[in-house]
Amino acid sequence: MAVSTLPASNLDEAAVADFHETLLQSKRIVAVLGAGLSAASGLPTYRGVGSGGLWRNYDATQIATPAAFRHDPGLVWQYTSHLRRLALGAAPNPAHYALAELARRVPGFMALTQNVDNLSPRAEHPAAQLNQLHGNLFDMRCSDEANCGYIERGNFKDPLTPALAASPEEQDATVSNNESVKRPKATAWLLEGIARKNRQILGHDYQEAAPLRTDQAALKSGDDESTESRLAVVPEPSNIPPADLPQCPKCSTNLLRPNIVWFGEALPADIVAEVDNMFNDSQPIDLCIVIGTSGSVWPAAGFADLARKKGARIAVVNLDVSDVKNMRPGTDWVFAGDAAVVVPELLKPVMGSLSG
Ligand code: APR
Repeated sequence: MAVSTLPASNLDEAAVADFHETLLQSKRIVAVLGAGLSAASGLPTYRGVGSGGLWRNYDATQIATPAAFRHDPGLVWQYTSHLRRLALGAAPNPAHYALAELARRVPGFMALTQNVDNLSPRAEHPAAQLNQLHGNLFDMRCSDEANCGYIERGNFKDPLTPALAASPEEQDATVSNNESVKRPKATAWLLEGIARKNRQILGHDYQEAAPLRTDQAALKSGDDESTESRLAVVPEPSNIPPADLPQCPKCSTNLLRPNIVWFGEALPADIVAEVDNMFNDSQPIDLCIVIGTSGSVWPAAGFADLARKKGARIAVVNLDVSDVKNMRPGTDWVFAGDAAVVVPELLKPVMGSLSG
């Protein structure tokens, strides 16, 4: 396995040359994309290197779940609205554009993205060659999928309802933030509130009663010294009346929910079918590029293995080489560095040789 670390702006030439040789010969390429692809666009990742603190101290599996939405949709919509504002404030980076260009030039290229930030579509990545496995923050669907089934795509309105406008703290955080990256930050009290309520929902002794302030002790303590101060600023529940949240315009009965995959949910059947068909058909896969993912969440974590079983050589691009621990032995190349720098470097000669 050739490991190339990106000192300054050049990768290990031998590793790149070997990669380019495979790339130029590849008819069928799969890319598995994670939050690290969007890190250079200013969006925090969920875990490890680059995680901007949004989920650093919380058990992410308690922040966005069907149970949480049933219990306090206001908090979940507040958090989702925050993520939408982050994504709206970001812009695609050179890696998004390079992958979109590769799709235009190599019909057999398919990108499987775990990202819901809409940056690949904004980079004009051809929709037919982009599978948004975990959904998209700007799509919404009726919360009663079985009996209503309404879905709307590409709703970039912010706020979606007046009740979901950025909180004063979020606005302050935006103003005080580095001027060049106006990124509203989730306030500790908002995240704490979501985690507290969901601990209640998922706790074994959950009662319908509203969580009490004493319930704070049940919270998984953060890994930094500010846990106590965070607990002290835990807000009251969102108390946003359902009527003030996005409503389904079709059935006029239920709330709309974000069309993203929450923890504890399976990927949508059509998404699964599309991926299964790709990995179970008779055609080989020549190359799999795994970009900016910790490989923590299935099924995406297993895609490189499936590609390898179909003959693919595997390349990993990650800022943190140690975080590719999940890559099975047999990874052909590990390129350590910022995806926004490495990916265009890796794809550039292919683009040039395919120009025109
Ligand atoms: N360039 C390349 N890689 C980077 C960069 C960067 N600039 N910054 C961070 N990384 C790497 C980190 O080292 C880490 O391995 O990106 C990876 C991000 O991992 P996660 O935060 O776990 O994100 P991801 O793998 O996409 O998470 C998968 O988990 O929380 C759920 O549904 C959510 O889609 C998400 C899924």
